[in-house]
Amino acid sequence: MKLIVLLGAPGSGKGTVAARLVKRFKVCHVSSGDLLRAAVKQADTPASRTAMAAMREGALVADEVVGALVIERLERCAPAAVILLDGYPRNEHQAANLAVEVARAGAKVAAAVWLEVPEAILIRRLAGRRICGKCAAGYHIENMKPKVDGICDSCGSALIQREDDLPGRIANRLVVYKQQTAALIDWYESRGLLVRIDGSDDADAVVERVAQTVIA
Ligand code: AP5
Repeated sequence: MKLIVLLGAPGSGKGTVAARLVKRFKVCHVSSGDLLRAAVKQADTPASRTAMAAMREGALVADEVVGALVIERLERCAPAAVILLDGYPRNEHQAANLAVEVARAGAKVAAAVWLEVPEAILIRRLAGRRICGKCAAGYHIENMKPKVDGICDSCGSALIQREDDLPGRIANRLVVYKQQTAALIDWYESRGLLVRIDGSDDADAVVERVAQTVIA
């Protein structure tokens, strides 16, 4: 089993790259954001309301909550040859926890792919993102348009804008990324695991670069 961590700021393309690689290779895509969105939809508890409030504002959800969801999902990926972990870890505590948990399963992180994208592009991507309200497929109002305006190509449901993609919240997510997550670049580099990929090109080119570098 090859575990690849996808690192990058909000809007760097982690989810897009993973979704496209799933179509080409036998890989298991684990997204902490998707797991959290599904979990808060399913249960209306004080814990889920706290998590939902953090996500709406672009703050991080508590390490124990997201860690438990991710580790449980990783266990269900076996026997996939490659696992793409998108959105986790997001701070050094989570990175250390991941290392311990995967070691327990006799595995380790094979590479941490950092999708490098300038901030102006990140903001444009996030502001223009639309997702399917039902199946969560991703689109963009300029560069990944659906065939019919506002309608998901895959399931025909209406496209929506994520609450955390509203302007003030995008700014907050970028601050949180710089303050809490960007340090993971050095964390993985110091362990010889960092792979830098220019994520600013069009999606096909970025996906090809990731595939050639860490999967093929
Ligand atoms: P999460 O869902 O993980 O959000 P994120 O990290 O902010 O990442 P995004 O989904 O916004 O960006 P992405 O890099 O996947 O970009 P995408 O491919 O979609 O997390 C949401 C929240 O959950 C967090 O804020 C936090 O509250 C909580 N959370 C999650 N994980 C957590 C953790 N580990 N610990 C604590 N809390 C956690 O692309 C964006 C747009 O750009 C799309 O429209 C796409 O079509 C377009 N696009 C993508 N690539 C390209 C390209 N190459 N060219 C042109 N357009 C592109």
